[in-house]
Amino acid sequence: MFLRLKDCHNTQDFRKLAKQRLPSSIFHYIDGGSDDEITYRRNTEAFNKCDLIPNVLAGMENVDLTTTIFNTKMKLPFFLSPTAMQRLFHHDGEKALARVASREGIMMGVSTIGTVSIEELGKLTEGPKIFQLYIHKDKGLTNDLIDRCKQSKFDAIALTVDTIVGGNRERDLYTGMTTPPKLTFKSLLSFATHPTWTMNYLFRKKFELAQVKDYVKQGTDITSSIVNYINSQMDQTMSWKDAAEAKKRWGGPFAIKGINSVEDAKKAIDIGATAIMISNHGGRQLDGSISPFDALQDIVDAVGGKIEIILDGGIRRGTHILKALSLGANACSGGRFYLYALAGAGEPGVEKAVTKLKEELIRDMMLMGCKKIAELSKKNIKFR
Ligand code: LAC
Repeated sequence: MFLRLKDCHNTQDFRKLAKQRLPSSIFHYIDGGSDDEITYRRNTEAFNKCDLIPNVLAGMENVDLTTTIFNTKMKLPFFLSPTAMQRLFHHDGEKALARVASREGIMMGVSTIGTVSIEELGKLTEGPKIFQLYIHKDKGLTNDLIDRCKQSKFDAIALTVDTIVGGNRERDLYTGMTTPPKLTFKSLLSFATHPTWTMNYLFRKKFELAQVKDYVKQGTDITSSIVNYINSQMDQTMSWKDAAEAKKRWGGPFAIKGINSVEDAKKAIDIGATAIMISNHGGRQLDGSISPFDALQDIVDAVGGKIEIILDGGIRRGTHILKALSLGANACSGGRFYLYALAGAGEPGVEKAVTKLKEELIRDMMLMGCKKIAELSKKNIKFR
């Protein structure tokens, strides 16, 4: 059956839509994890380990989903996690996200390996934006990225710390995925059978890694796998000292993205971070590592209330968000839930993905008997 956006009602449907629309290498770049993809799958499965305990007869005429993180009030308790190379999935890329996030009153993430510039996004919408910083070997590039975010009035920076080397993305090895895509016999065949994507890729604005193209040719003018880009460009000596220096230079709300241990959560507090994003990069880095939901309890018990805690990854349903918030997360973020929709249907797709999650949250909160996010607590869940 040929899927259309109107046939999509959840992330699994959007994933099918993306698979239908994208050349194989591009779809598997989004969809894939590292090694055997155990962590990738477990990021979502982990939510099934506990049950929600609803209360009834609580009078549920108005549900308030507003949440404040990074000193920024959001209309919903989740935001669009930063992800790379979005114009490879749909020619609007990050611009589609910025418009939807601004309309829906939620934060959008912008990646260092993004494809619409900090400056263009800063001018496009007033909506809150968080920049995902990768510390490059080129310190000038790293510092310029921070300064450019200041000039474009971004609201927060998330320093990504779990990509000191690229994960083992075997799907990309099988498909030959590169940025920009290489034209080989195999890829040409895949592009030819996805004409809409191919026409947009060939005849719309040139694909480029917009944040870094003036510093690094790799990934824009020189084809490279993402893993090769990470391994050759990122600073593998990166330490907490570098994180503290980046935070100092930025001077605004600052998160460490990729925290999985209590020890590191405490170190994030020591350098004065505003927030931690408990994340394993969507299961794309260290396979076999703990899922964010499994890591959440110990981290909340250790540092809850001392630093904002964001659960990043595995989110597919409103109930996943409710379980994370009940366990003590301040907010959630996700990537694939909107990326599939972006790839399959551009801005209307992202709009529908966010709206569907919002509708699920409202329905689930009413069924839980909770009027606002602050009412959620460990009382609302029970582990089996
Ligand atoms: C990835 C990096 C670029 O997961 O975020 O591909």
